[in-house]
Amino acid sequence: MKATPIERDIIDRTIDEFQVADFGRATIREVKAIAAKAEAQSGVEFIKMEMGVPGLPPSAVGVEAEIEALRNGIASLYPDINGLDELKREASRFVKAFVDVDIAPEGCVPVTGSMQGTFASFLTCSQCDPRKDTILFIDPGFPVQKQQLVVMGQKYETFDVYNFRGERLEEKLESYLSRGNISAIIYSNPNNPSWVCLKDEELRIIGRLATKYDVIVLEDLAYFAMDFRQDLSRPFQPPFQPSVARYTDHYILLISGSKAFSYAGQRIGVSCISDKLYHRAYPGLMQRYGGAGTFGTVFIHRVLYALSSGTSHSAQYALAAMLKAASDGRYNFLDEVRVYGERARRLKEIFLRHGFRLVYDNDLGEPVADGFYFTIGYPGMTSGELARELMYYGVSAISLVTTGSSQEGLRACTSFIQDHQYALLDERMAIFAENHPLG
Ligand SMILES: Cc1ncc(COP(=O)(O)O)c(C=O)c1O
Repeated sequence: MKATPIERDIIDRTIDEFQVADFGRATIREVKAIAAKAEAQSGVEFIKMEMGVPGLPPSAVGVEAEIEALRNGIASLYPDINGLDELKREASRFVKAFVDVDIAPEGCVPVTGSMQGTFASFLTCSQCDPRKDTILFIDPGFPVQKQQLVVMGQKYETFDVYNFRGERLEEKLESYLSRGNISAIIYSNPNNPSWVCLKDEELRIIGRLATKYDVIVLEDLAYFAMDFRQDLSRPFQPPFQPSVARYTDHYILLISGSKAFSYAGQRIGVSCISDKLYHRAYPGLMQRYGGAGTFGTVFIHRVLYALSSGTSHSAQYALAAMLKAASDGRYNFLDEVRVYGERARRLKEIFLRHGFRLVYDNDLGEPVADGFYFTIGYPGMTSGELARELMYYGVSAISLVTTGSSQEGLRACTSFIQDHQYALLDERMAIFAENHPLG
């Protein structure tokens, strides 16, 4: 056995100190803290792949617009709870330009990041009909969204899409929806953590069944248009971001400023509520809030009002400017983030050369795109074993177990990778492969 880049003892002691009994279940924050401590103690640099934080400068278009808005004094004013008119208009136009779907500006609602968008959506969807008290996750997914449901005391169900791609999705989805207790379905596309992208035929199935069982679809577009296999960057021209919006009437598109515009720090996004859903009256909402009980007004004037009374005023100006510049064709936001794809390509090549395999490796036969995340496994190792073992080699990533996946493997994020780290990873994975020979 060759010596590992970091003494095993240092990692073992640090994990013990954090009282993480099962490293396969460690949260992102725990993995980050353990890696930081082990790095400080060993003096050996970690290749950090656990956090899904943008590793790029923020969009200059947004920063300039925000500074100007602040100089103009908007910080002293409460933002309109409906959202800044200009942002609502531009969000509607952006959706038309890049998804080719019509959503009226009134339904495009600023939120303090998609995190708040999903919280408000889960809450509102769960109150529409007392019989529908459960949210369905098409997993793997973003763990904090389940935590949101735990916080609000709502039920959820989940299945791993791994074995249910294409036509197989239909029967699986129907087995849940036919029970009559599902209020909404959520998935991200591209997907965190697997980077699989649901294809049109799968979105059509989701849309058709959502209509059949009167279920709302929450389409989390946190990685908007970041499937770099196709050029989705040209406004008002195909190809467009695939969306369930083409196949059902009751949906919310959750668009985030965080990743596509590297604007995570300002906590800004838009929840775009379909016209039909916005105006639909639900008995559960009427009973709880009085009035007409329409989804859109409850979402904005009851739920968002109670949560944060609107969204940071200056950040709304930033997002309006970024969306406008993108739809005008003056600013190719995808050019700025394409580097994640290039990083993924290089990292995957290194891992695969040293005996690793991609866990989620294809979309109906087509290799998954290179993007913000990818998933890796090593023959004969569980998620927990691999996550812990890689720590001895100074590589930190989170186990897929924490994301609702039933596959053995890890999620690796490309956002913090620096140029000199490819050679470092190659060296370390060569030692790993020597220490873990494959039969
Ligand atoms: C799938 C998914 N949804 C939502 C979010 C949160 O986005 P925001 O920063 O807009 O709250 C993330 C962030 O990592 C994500 O990966």
